[in-house]
Amino acid sequence: MAKTQSVYVCADCGSEHPKWQGQCVSCGVWNTLTRFTPSAQNSASGANQARAISVSLARPSSGGGYSGSETEVKQLSEVELINSPRISSGFDEFDRVLGGGLVPGSVVLMGGEPGAGKSTLLLQVSARLANGGNVLYVTGEESLQQLAMRATRLKLPMDKLRVAAETRAEEIAALMQQYQPSVLVLDSIQVMQLASIDSVPGSVSQVRETAAFFTRLAKQAGIVVILVGHVTKDGGLAGPKVLEHMIDCFVMLDSPVGSRYRTLRGLKNRFGAVNELGVFAMTDGGMKEVSNPSAIFLQRSDKPAAGSVTTVLWEGTRPLLIELQALVDDVQGGYPKRLAIGLDAQRLGMHLAVLHRHCGIALNDQDVFANVVGGVRVGEPGVDLALILAVLSSFKNSPLPADMVVFGELGLTGEVRPVANGQERLREAFKHGFKRAIIPEGNTPRPAIKGMQVIAVDSLLQALDALNET
Ligand code: TYD
Ligand code: MG
Repeated sequence: MAKTQSVYVCADCGSEHPKWQGQCVSCGVWNTLTRFTPSAQNSASGANQARAISVSLARPSSGGGYSGSETEVKQLSEVELINSPRISSGFDEFDRVLGGGLVPGSVVLMGGEPGAGKSTLLLQVSARLANGGNVLYVTGEESLQQLAMRATRLKLPMDKLRVAAETRAEEIAALMQQYQPSVLVLDSIQVMQLASIDSVPGSVSQVRETAAFFTRLAKQAGIVVILVGHVTKDGGLAGPKVLEHMIDCFVMLDSPVGSRYRTLRGLKNRFGAVNELGVFAMTDGGMKEVSNPSAIFLQRSDKPAAGSVTTVLWEGTRPLLIELQALVDDVQGGYPKRLAIGLDAQRLGMHLAVLHRHCGIALNDQDVFANVVGGVRVGEPGVDLALILAVLSSFKNSPLPADMVVFGELGLTGEVRPVANGQERLREAFKHGFKRAIIPEGNTPRPAIKGMQVIAVDSLLQALDALNET
């Protein structure tokens, strides 16, 4: 029989190495390699257990692809489509991020920092789901007492939801067999353990094998498994790579420092788009949905301020108004700083080069700071024009009109490019009382929006001219 070889896995990036070494050569972090014995012993025994349990868990088969029986080859068109309706989580914001609800037989990983509100949100979701279905909420981090206290405080219906405090994966599988839930919540994957894996909970091998174990159970029994995953301070899940490829959806609950708002973003989704953003508020009564997020990210005073520009993002299927702020100040010794929070600092540097080369405005003796108010993270280039105008506004200490929005992508030749869904963005701004807009030529609304003055530009220079005239 072939001897099983140990590999050394980095707890930070998940890369594998044949030998132990102090530093991971893939990500450069020190002292993160731990020994891991894959295949034959460990994973096979886990797989066998999963298989044994699944035989009795099996429900009306959902395609049989994971059953471990004989392999069939079919033409794609011959594959029977099983129309399993999505299960609503009871929160529209959560459903939208998932692409329309929970899909039976899928695994959802919810990541977030401690205190983000993962347990709170999932307890609320579970209580709502338990009303119409069979839900098992397993916590490995809190006692049942604590769970009940929280549920009472949140005034959740408690008579239908089944809960258990357990960290042993095999025991949880036995509970699943006994209670046959259609939704299983595991809080959190980092404290769960398989007895057959000889390493501590939270280590790469435990996390990997336990997640694989529950993934198999989810597929075989056709149930939804929601895993909670704590995120380490540098933003990665412990054993990130090993989890991400396994699960179907990865949603991240972000908690901006000092804000009571939480954003839920899809980072991976096998059943829908990944760019949706859900917004919640953490209140005394738990997590509440925010259905009109533009209103909260835009609590501006009516007095215009230099360095502040309102822009419209496109988040998945809807527009979102946000305020960008920039501060430009004389360099305080050393190199000029370029710092961006919620934005791409490299893009900021690129825009400053465009500003210099194409408009003749040099900021090489200035520090430049940029921030998105409300803690939203912006990934789209549609904010480029607004960002550079915010920088200029601060530099010249000259505010933009309070009723003006700006959007558009900036190219390296100084051109302003159109963005997707321009009309909808403009309409959203108009709805929130904005009467003027600087936008790309290609996004000119036809027909015009009554009551809104649209200034269409095709270069940064034109945008600056337009500003000077206002
Ligand atoms: P929690 O759900 O325990 O976070 P996680 O599971 O992501 O670690 O939420 C913890 C925080 O939420 C805690 O700091 C208190 C706050 N909170 C409220 O503000 N209101 C509430 O109703 C609840 C339950 C928690
Ligand atoms: Mg928790």
